[in-house]
Amino acid sequence: MSDDSRPSPSGARTAAVIPAAGRGVRLGPGAPKALRALNGTPMLIHAVRAMAASRAVSLVVVVAPPDGAAEVKVLLDSHALPERTDFLVVPGGDSRQESVRLGLDALPPGIDIVLVHDAARPLVPVDTVDAVIEAVRDGAPAVVPALPLADTVKQVEPAGVPGEPEPVVATPERALLRAVQTPQGFDRETLVRAHETVTDNVTDDASMVEQLGLRVVVVPGHEEAFKVTRPLDLVLAEAVLARRRLNDGF
Ligand code: C5P
Repeated sequence: MSDDSRPSPSGARTAAVIPAAGRGVRLGPGAPKALRALNGTPMLIHAVRAMAASRAVSLVVVVAPPDGAAEVKVLLDSHALPERTDFLVVPGGDSRQESVRLGLDALPPGIDIVLVHDAARPLVPVDTVDAVIEAVRDGAPAVVPALPLADTVKQVEPAGVPGEPEPVVATPERALLRAVQTPQGFDRETLVRAHETVTDNVTDDASMVEQLGLRVVVVPGHEEAFKVTRPLDLVLAEAVLARRRLNDGF
């Protein structure tokens, strides 16, 4: 969709920050989640390629495990990545939020739009990435791709002991809910301000912008942008890759 030969109205340049410093304990024992292989290629490389696939993205900043930045740099150097995109690796922090902030700190001047993309969503299609960038270019300070929910969601009083029955507190109307994915897109200055201002622990960056009282909008997400969290997700991700290879005629 986007094309870097077509200047955006603002002449905006886009970078993607990929927090990849998590241990991914829910996947079970083994390498840090981002370094797990999907069809022989580390999940992180898939995620980096997914961002670099957008012609609008001129820089990808990978936030590596604090003790693994050198290893991640070697990994990026040893995989084919688009020539037109620059890559940086910085060490991450204790929380996702801190890792994103460290990634933002590494951005050079001249970047106006920032995508934040989980390494754990390696298969997001380029059309979704471009749709997010487009909506930021059109003036939204924060943009999230999201999907309607298949499941009804219950709010509960969490049980102190795992496995114990949990009382239901409320059932939010499903039609009003969306399951949020990444990349989330931001006007750079807005995201930096959000990270400077909001100190609560959050699970996504857009909620920090919401806390500033600014407008956050949703664009359609994609079912292939799911987060690889549990062992079954690895099976699904490999099946998606196999289908893509078939469709691409490899
Ligand atoms: O734990 P969760 O699945 O929500 O992590 C989302 C993303 O944040 C993952 O890509 C993970 O690598 C990253 N993360 C990070 N630094 C941390 C914790 C998580 O970069 N300290």
